[in-house]
Amino acid sequence: MKFRKQIFGFMDMLRFKKMVPTRRKMLANGADTPLPQEYRTNMLADKLHPGYMEAELTDTRFLTETIRELTFRRVDSDSFPFFRAGQYVSLQVKIGDSVVSRPYSIVSTPRQALDNKLVLAIENAGFVSGYLCEKAKVGDRFIMTEPSGEFHYETLRDSKNIICVAGGSGITPFVSMAGSLVDKDESYSMILFYGARSAKQLAYRAELDRLSARCSDLRVIYVLSDESDDDCEHGFISASLMKKYTELSDSTFFLCGPQPMYDFLMKELSPLQLPKKSIHRDATCCGDLPTEHPEELKLTVHMRDEIFIITANSNETLLTAMEHAGLNAPNKCRAGGCGFCHSKWISGSYKVAEGRDGRREADRKFGFIHPCVTYPVSDMEIDVPVAY
Ligand code: FES
Repeated sequence: MKFRKQIFGFMDMLRFKKMVPTRRKMLANGADTPLPQEYRTNMLADKLHPGYMEAELTDTRFLTETIRELTFRRVDSDSFPFFRAGQYVSLQVKIGDSVVSRPYSIVSTPRQALDNKLVLAIENAGFVSGYLCEKAKVGDRFIMTEPSGEFHYETLRDSKNIICVAGGSGITPFVSMAGSLVDKDESYSMILFYGARSAKQLAYRAELDRLSARCSDLRVIYVLSDESDDDCEHGFISASLMKKYTELSDSTFFLCGPQPMYDFLMKELSPLQLPKKSIHRDATCCGDLPTEHPEELKLTVHMRDEIFIITANSNETLLTAMEHAGLNAPNKCRAGGCGFCHSKWISGSYKVAEGRDGRREADRKFGFIHPCVTYPVSDMEIDVPVAY
């Protein structure tokens, strides 16, 4: 054994001695053509992950009295990146002195993105959505983030049977998922329960009927709470209603709608004792706290070489305060999950919205915060990266 060790050690020494001349020889024999300026892998990565994009509004139409569809083309490149059906983009809008962003699920399919077409449908509710529904016009340009988000089908994680439940404007990601299935870019079997108060409030009904007629793996059930219709179910989307159409236990659920719909469905599904990974809910933005008399606090923001001193109300998130002050702070999901707004806490007290703390343990320990879900409790000082 000792002898073998000595032999190997000796051979290693010989190889080591020869290493420099061998390298020199190989370098001398190498091609003298210049290195490529572009690498295909990097080009593909840039195409798939452009970061921020400039997009122009090319068409609009009202789908219902309150939901407006907006179609965009990308102006800084030939096409939008391919994405996963169900993902969202964040749209940045300048309203007065404020620079504000909101995430919106993509309605169009990943294939349409390659034809430089991206469609969003926006409900007229709130500051930014109200602006986009009432004021945005064809030709307006916006900054848009690349598609992001975890609300999409994942072959290894999800059952082949997916049950999608949409409430009101929560239909948007499912139109993309249905289209992607028909395009054969996805391979699930999808049943969609789409709830609204009345038939008039069902957006994309004709589109969904057209898609389901083309694909045996897609079925759509409309559920109206406030009126009866021969082609629709009446009432709410309950477990017993879903059981009429499909087996619930061997399925993955995708839910998108208002908070009361989530609360109701989680109660309905709890007797099934489904594993956590079987229910996906689309994230909702973190809003203001219901406080009658919010306190006005001082927020000191370090951004690169500049320091801004602004006002932050105790009932609004640090991100909202920065946007109202016109600061270009990075954000995407506005729900605490993506980590894109990740910033350094310097001083002051704060609280994180309940159930929204998506920070990693190390971030918590070393004083990083997500301003999109953080409310100031005292005057605060933070260090924030610039969005772009
Ligand atoms: S914007 Fe996603 S975590 Fe803050």
